[in-house]
Amino acid sequence: MNLPQRPRRLRQNEAVRAMVREHELRAADFVYPLFVCHGTGVADPVGSMPGVCRYSLDRLPAVLDDVVGLGIPAVILFGIPERKDAVGSEAYADDGIVQRAVRAIREQYPQLVVITDVCLCEYTDHGHCGLVEDGYVLNDETVELLAQTAVSHARAGAHIVAPSDMMDGRVAAIRQALDGAGLERTAIMSYAAKFASGYYGPFREAAGSTPGFGDRKGYQMDPANGDEAVREALLDVEQGADMIIVKPALAFGDIIWRTKQETHLPVVAYNVSGEYAMVKAAAANGWLDERKVVLESLCGMKRAGADIIITYHALDAARWLAERA
Ligand code: PBG
Ligand code: ZN
Repeated sequence: MNLPQRPRRLRQNEAVRAMVREHELRAADFVYPLFVCHGTGVADPVGSMPGVCRYSLDRLPAVLDDVVGLGIPAVILFGIPERKDAVGSEAYADDGIVQRAVRAIREQYPQLVVITDVCLCEYTDHGHCGLVEDGYVLNDETVELLAQTAVSHARAGAHIVAPSDMMDGRVAAIRQALDGAGLERTAIMSYAAKFASGYYGPFREAAGSTPGFGDRKGYQMDPANGDEAVREALLDVEQGADMIIVKPALAFGDIIWRTKQETHLPVVAYNVSGEYAMVKAAAANGWLDERKVVLESLCGMKRAGADIIITYHALDAARWLAERA
């Protein structure tokens, strides 16, 4: 056969394949999520997320030594409070669990970038991401508490705050509150396009943050909407976001691509808890090769345009990448 183009010529051996490879994962792209809780000696496994635990502060070094040793530059912190209440008090308490974790990590691991998730749902007894009145999650009143939370995280030493609540106007309010407190160097990584997804189930088990009534569709986005995701991202840029998160990642490659093209900001793919749990469950059954599918999925997020990937697979993936090199 006389074919002018034979694409297989570029697949003839691994050396040629490596030369024409367009995208490459690096440990430097990863952010590792950590659940921090009160107490001592706690490493409490999350049932639906094999390999993931809630850690008390004294147990963090075992994990953080690995994070740093593997060349992962950053962690994102989620807090499990001592007590939940209607207004999520511990979210913005100066001695809250996240605030304490940030101080400890900044002191012990000066090279690590510390990112904090800013939301109320882990801290409210009803499990919603804001204040609730007559079954409605109030917007502007919630935004005030989110701004307070962000300032308390930044005061504790967070380099980057990441609001995940999806209230309107929260990036502007957080930027203003940070600047007003002399924290103009703290960056905002905004969960701009966060969808009301079934894939957050295992996280809610980990954080005990399943809404006590209703769902999050009144503030998180409809997974059917792409244009709206772009609008959300652009609004957050206008309000002062430094980076944009798209969440979940696997079914939302188009959103990653579009937000990157439209914002030209660093775009972060959040490979969420349910995406992790699916792979872990299938791998545990011997139904797929964990290493192959994880690296393939994470690379797909980069190909979709992500600059950074938040993933519970970060430690394993970084190890596999180091072995491959
Ligand atoms: C808090 C928050 C959630 C996640 C990140 N921040 C849960 C939710 O919105 O219900 C999900 C992360 C994951 O599933 O890994 N708002
Ligand atoms: Zn929330």
